[in-house]
Amino acid sequence: MRAAVFDSGVGGLTVVKSLLEHNLFEEIVYFGDTARVPYGIKDKNTIIRYSLEALEFFNNFEPDILITACNSVSAHALEELKTSAPYPVVGVIEPGVLAAKKRLKKDENILIIGTNATISSKKYERLLTKEGYFNITSKPTPLFVPLVEEEIFEGPVLEAAMEHYFKGLNPDGIILGCTHFPLISHAIKNYFEKAKLIHSGEAICEYLEEHLGIKEKNKETRIELFASENPSKLKKIAALWCGI
Ligand code: DGL
Repeated sequence: MRAAVFDSGVGGLTVVKSLLEHNLFEEIVYFGDTARVPYGIKDKNTIIRYSLEALEFFNNFEPDILITACNSVSAHALEELKTSAPYPVVGVIEPGVLAAKKRLKKDENILIIGTNATISSKKYERLLTKEGYFNITSKPTPLFVPLVEEEIFEGPVLEAAMEHYFKGLNPDGIILGCTHFPLISHAIKNYFEKAKLIHSGEAICEYLEEHLGIKEKNKETRIELFASENPSKLKKIAALWCGI
């Protein structure tokens, strides 16, 4: 099976890392729209337009499935992608909610963090409320995106940003509603020692295995990486983060 994986930039590589660990596909074609990142501060129509342009790119590769490894795209352009793609399209939000359901009790305190676009869509909140969760706080934490892009995964600048966003909160579980955030999960875990973290990459693997019946392959995954700008930087980051 060939999977197309799409993100606004490098963040979706955290999803690729999980896909590689679970060995679910023979081939992965990754496209990061690095020329136009971040999507999380753009409006819905722009996110839809950029996402449909990415779809045109992938059509040349005839994938079997498209994974939108970007919460902002999953929040705003999933329906449009599903309507336009001649193959199945899966986002990361529904899998994230199903992963939360397995790990968190209904009365536990859930914090959702993500970009402005993801949080303003209220998609996580709506799905969690439908599942019976009622103790939900959602908070846009857009500063974390450039920090990760700058490879700041720890230290005083990140500590200050966490203090700015997290002061006074005490969650039992945190949905990392942005595929950049697993890169700072150690720091977040240090800040909130007892909170369980939900990660889009792990969530999508569980979803693919349990809901779409995609099984572990015994062949190594072949991976091709593309970016709309500076592909060598994306490849360098992929080597660093995913060992590819
Ligand atoms: N990786 C994107 C997401 O999961 C965030 C980065 C952006 O703002 O484009 O929403």
